[in-house]
Amino acid sequence: MSAHDQAFWRQYAQTYAMLYGILPVQEALKHVVWAAGITSHSNVLDVGCGTGFLMRVLTEFFGIWPQITGLDHTAEMLDVARAVPYAGSFKPVLADLNRPHTEWDLDGQTYDRLVANNSLYAVDSPVSVLRELLSVAAVNARLVVSTPRPEASIQAVVSEHLRMFTVRGGSSDDEARRVVELFADIRRINERILANERFHFPDSGELEDWFFRSGWRLTSVRTTYAGQNWLAVANRG
Ligand SMILES: C[S@@+](CC[C@H](N)C(=O)[O-])C[C@H]1O[C@@H](n2cnc3c(N)ncnc32)[C@H](O)[C@@H]1O
Repeated sequence: MSAHDQAFWRQYAQTYAMLYGILPVQEALKHVVWAAGITSHSNVLDVGCGTGFLMRVLTEFFGIWPQITGLDHTAEMLDVARAVPYAGSFKPVLADLNRPHTEWDLDGQTYDRLVANNSLYAVDSPVSVLRELLSVAAVNARLVVSTPRPEASIQAVVSEHLRMFTVRGGSSDDEARRVVELFADIRRINERILANERFHFPDSGELEDWFFRSGWRLTSVRTTYAGQNWLAVANRG
């Protein structure tokens, strides 16, 4: 990881957890859990786990506590994840996805559910990372990738948040003011992400190619996150 990337993710770790307050973020995480078919018996690898949103959504909306290994290269993100109240087992692993899986310190474990929520866009080569993930996937494993589409729009996510908020009986004007203030930093960081030419925002053909070239068998692709992300499901073999 370059010093530039390190500084970027460290800075993002300061505010990242606030994003959870955006309703389409929670909705997209629910889609990931459904698509992955996670149960309380699953052994999950959360790829680029960040501040532990997967644990939060499993606890708040599903009431299930599978075993989770959270892999991330940003110590500050893992520190926040460690503090998430979670009734299951959570093992944080500080590791760089750009390195081979043999350097990930996973104790030789394999996983039956692998989830990469908003992390594959940031790695050097999504195809290489998917190949490495295949090496730690159990027989019959399922992988779910949620990743931004080309020209994803933050505004579309905020508008969907306000729509969902209003449907639930809240005042959209008050919430619009709150969101604009609260998320000013996050919005700036997101704009930097979307403008970063090193990051990957595949069209549907490129997304299919990621899976085809890495050896995962893609079973479905749809959109999520107010239409701004792909939600791809694949099986091993
Ligand atoms: C946008 S956050 C998503 C976090 C989480 N999956 C979620 O749904 O909220 C992206 C995460 O990927 C991690 N990440 C980016 N590149 C990585 C790499 N090469 N190796 C490991 N983690 C990486 C970042 O540190 C960050 O925590």
